[in-house]
Amino acid sequence: MLFQPTLCAALGLAALIVQGGEARPETTVPHATGSLDDFLAAQSPIAFQGILNNIGPSGAYSEGVNPGVVIASPSKQDPDYFYTWVRDAALTVQYLVEELVAGNASLQFLIQDYISSQARLQTVENPSGSLSSGGLGEPKFHVDETAFTDSWGRPQRDGPPLRAIAMISFANYLIDNGHQSTVEDIIWPIVRNDLSYVSQHWNETTFDIWEEVHSSSFFTTAVQYRALVQGSALASKLGHTCDNCGSQAPQILCFLQSYWTGSHILANTGGGRSGKDVSTILGVIGSFDPNADCDDVTFQPCSARALANHKQVVDSFRSIYAINAGIPSGSAVAVGRYPEDVYQGGHPWYLTTAAAAEQLYDAIYQWNHVGHIDINAVNLDFFKSIYPSAAEGTYTSDSSTFQDIISAVRTYADGFLSVIEKYTPPDNLLAEQFHRETGIPLSAASLTWSYAALNTAAQRRASIVPSPWNSNSTDLPDKCSATSATGPYATPTNTAWPTTTQPPERPACTPPSEVTLTFNALVDTAFGQNIYLVGSIPELGSWDPANALLMSAKSWTSGNPVWTLSISLPAGTSFEYKFIRKDDGSSDVVWESDPNRSYNVPKDCGANTATVNSWWR
Ligand code: NOJ
Ligand code: NOJ
Repeated sequence: MLFQPTLCAALGLAALIVQGGEARPETTVPHATGSLDDFLAAQSPIAFQGILNNIGPSGAYSEGVNPGVVIASPSKQDPDYFYTWVRDAALTVQYLVEELVAGNASLQFLIQDYISSQARLQTVENPSGSLSSGGLGEPKFHVDETAFTDSWGRPQRDGPPLRAIAMISFANYLIDNGHQSTVEDIIWPIVRNDLSYVSQHWNETTFDIWEEVHSSSFFTTAVQYRALVQGSALASKLGHTCDNCGSQAPQILCFLQSYWTGSHILANTGGGRSGKDVSTILGVIGSFDPNADCDDVTFQPCSARALANHKQVVDSFRSIYAINAGIPSGSAVAVGRYPEDVYQGGHPWYLTTAAAAEQLYDAIYQWNHVGHIDINAVNLDFFKSIYPSAAEGTYTSDSSTFQDIISAVRTYADGFLSVIEKYTPPDNLLAEQFHRETGIPLSAASLTWSYAALNTAAQRRASIVPSPWNSNSTDLPDKCSATSATGPYATPTNTAWPTTTQPPERPACTPPSEVTLTFNALVDTAFGQNIYLVGSIPELGSWDPANALLMSAKSWTSGNPVWTLSISLPAGTSFEYKFIRKDDGSSDVVWESDPNRSYNVPKDCGANTATVNSWWR
């Protein structure tokens, strides 16, 4: 297992010293909840900017990041996410391509930069191998495109198919706009390598999406199937064939069937857990084909299997998070990765809660498209939980039952986004997780994938869907076989994007001169104890405890013992700091343990505010 919960997270908040004396004001929920429409209208542009901030070379948090490289998060410690993960980047770019297709032409530069960076990354020798010997399965790289050589859960075989899918979406956009030769010259050689990797290695074990379990994974297999179907179609458009796509896709689809347990989708064949895991919902939304019917074989979002699974996975989180207490079955709750999770405390995640909503919006789109809803033994419990009178049968779109069910599913789906609204902090930045008891953001700050997941779900809610991909074009073989096909691999050499495909101007960028920095520190203080911030720069007292800045306990509660301080600092300032404690009536100072914390105030466009969430250590 790669990730251990941090010490602080493991200690949790259970050992709190109860606050005596005067009552501190109750913490309000982190975000005042209003209408979901209003929240999404305000939050989506913030999330969009949050993504741009995390892409080199000009994103606000991307100092030293190569062009087109997407960082997972600006967080450089606890956890250090200042790397590019192939998976996070591909899913983010898939979203950006959808925004491009929807009319945001200026994104074309970023997407082209991303593809150029992937052409380079494909050739970087790394611990998984080289271009043709398995290196494409390497999960993460340094932001300067060098290999990450420490031990890690490798390979992760979802990276190449996800990257292929994102690049194919962009290729189809270019073809539709008359730029087929650009696709042929630049994109196809990169996509072909990833398709070759999938054809060759799909039948080998992998680390899962969460980088922990080494076995076979539903998510990985599902996106591998999709990549080969779409790869085949792109090859034909370009007048090529992808023989190995055609030979391997049916076998991958065959293997995909083996994850169905009869009641839910088994996330991983290994790992020794319940197998209920939101990675299955991510596999379902990653397989969404807006033209498909509710096909069980490809686990479409409206399929009986995927709906039954949705209920099982979501229900597995109902009783384990305090913030879900009292929420009845059939109403949305905060969703984590899998119930046994302990990573960084094993709290709910924003991106997984968004995924639970997204599947349901996808399903609504599909029901409206096919014109009926089928309730059967497999999905009955799902429907009953949100529509108690549900009974087996087929309900056509002209019936009131159909309309009532659609509206119940929509209410349920909106509920998940309302959970995100409720736990979006006042600065509107989405971290990776939020605390299971307090809802306060935790783990990596400004996680690129959190933003992409929220905005993708919001698009589906608005019936903005990706292009169809002929998910059901493959016949299921009578008998599965564990096959493989090798090659071709070739170094992609051309990343000279022709000016004819360029939109007129790069996105505008206004660098800030000052950034308002908010520190939130969870410290289990007793009455009469106060927390200060002290650091290496004059604004933070130049390490002199007498000049340290007193933090505010205005939001402190025993359930959420947060000390806060906001300070405006010149953009680009680098400093070290610590939290210290002083007790009333004593001149002693208690310092946090070493090492010093360090921070670089962002200085690039868009970063006018930043937040640092920490625990006392
Ligand atoms: C191991 C199974 O034995 C094989 O049949 C299957 O195709 C692969 N796992 C998939 O990774
Ligand atoms: C940990 C997550 O489990 C993994 O899916 C992700 O790629 C990395 N963090 C980076 O965000």
